[in-house]
Amino acid sequence: MTLLYEGDIRDKELVEHLFSTHDIEVVINFTAESHVDRSIEESELFLQTNVLGTQNLLEVAKKHWKLKPQDKYSRSFKEGVKFIQISTDEVYGSLGEVGSFTERTPLAPNSPYSASKASADLLVRAYYETFGIPINITRCSNNYGPYQFPEKLIPLMIHNCLLCKELPIYGDGLQIRDWLHVEDHCRAIDIVLHNGMSGEVYNVGGNNEKTNLELVRLIINYLGQSETLIKHIKDRPGHDRRYAIDSSKIMTQLGWRPHYTFEEGIREIVEWYITHKDWMDHIISGEYDQHYEEMYLKI
Ligand code: DAU
Repeated sequence: MTLLYEGDIRDKELVEHLFSTHDIEVVINFTAESHVDRSIEESELFLQTNVLGTQNLLEVAKKHWKLKPQDKYSRSFKEGVKFIQISTDEVYGSLGEVGSFTERTPLAPNSPYSASKASADLLVRAYYETFGIPINITRCSNNYGPYQFPEKLIPLMIHNCLLCKELPIYGDGLQIRDWLHVEDHCRAIDIVLHNGMSGEVYNVGGNNEKTNLELVRLIINYLGQSETLIKHIKDRPGHDRRYAIDSSKIMTQLGWRPHYTFEEGIREIVEWYITHKDWMDHIISGEYDQHYEEMYLKI
C-alpha cells in the first residue's frame, strides 16, 4: 500500500510523526525549491527549504535509525536504512567550452539556488562523516518529462509555441545544458538506492548537450511554428554558460545507462504536452500568471 502525505520538510512535528508511525527505512529527498530565476528574486525560501528542510530530515532519520539512540558516539544504524539526497550538476558551477563535471569537481555554485543545494550536499556529507548515517548523493543534469512546471525551459517553450506566444530566450541563447529524461533519472536513483556504496556521490547525465537555441528550434519545428516567435531578452544574472556531466562512475560501477535518446524523448514530451492541455490549463494559476508577468512582461 502506498500512502501519500503532503507536508513541509521543515515541519519538525510532521516529520517526527511520520517516522514514529511508519517503519521508514529509506528517505529519498527530492524536495527542493528548484527554480534558479525564483532564487534570484527571493533567496530566503531556498535556504529554508533546501538547507534547513534537509537538516530536519537528516536529524529525524538519524534519531529513528540509530541502534543506540542514547549513545552519541555510536555509529551503528538499522540494517537497510539509507538517506539519498537528490542534488544537481549546478553545484559544480559553470564549464568552459570543453570538459565535464566529475564527482571530484570542486563545488562552485553561482546562484542562490545552487548555493542552497551545495549547502545541503555538504550537510548530508557531514552527517555521514560525523554520525555514520548511510547516505548517497546524486547530481543530475537538466531533467525533462511529463508534469514539469512551465517555469522550466522545455514546458514553457512548448506551452508558448502552442499559443503562438513569444519564446523568451535569455541573452544570446548559446548557453549549453545536458538533457536527461526524468525516467532515466529515476532509474539511476533506484540503482543507487539498491547498489550505491554508502557515502558516495554519483553524477547522472543524459549526454545530450544542446544550446538553448538549438533546443527551442527543435520544439518550434516539431510544432510547425515559426522562428520569428523567438525573442532574445535580458540575460539571467550569473547565468551559467555550460553544464556537462561525466556519468562514467554510475555507468561503470553500477551499470546504469540512459534508455532515451534525446530525439525520442523530446518528441514524446512535445506530444505529451499537446495531449495534456487540460493539465497545463489547470496548473497555470493566478500565481503562475504573476510569475510570468514579473519574469517576462516587465522586461
Ligand atoms: O542542471 C540541473 C538544473 O536544471 C536543476 O538543478 C534546476 O532545478 C533546474 O531548474 C534546471 O536549471 P536551469 O536553470 O538550467 O533550467 P531552466 O529550465 O530554468 O533553464 C534552462 C536554460 O534555459 C538556462 O540556460 C536558462 C534558459 N532559459 C530558461 C527560461 C525559463 C531561457 O533562455 N528562457 C527561459 O524563459
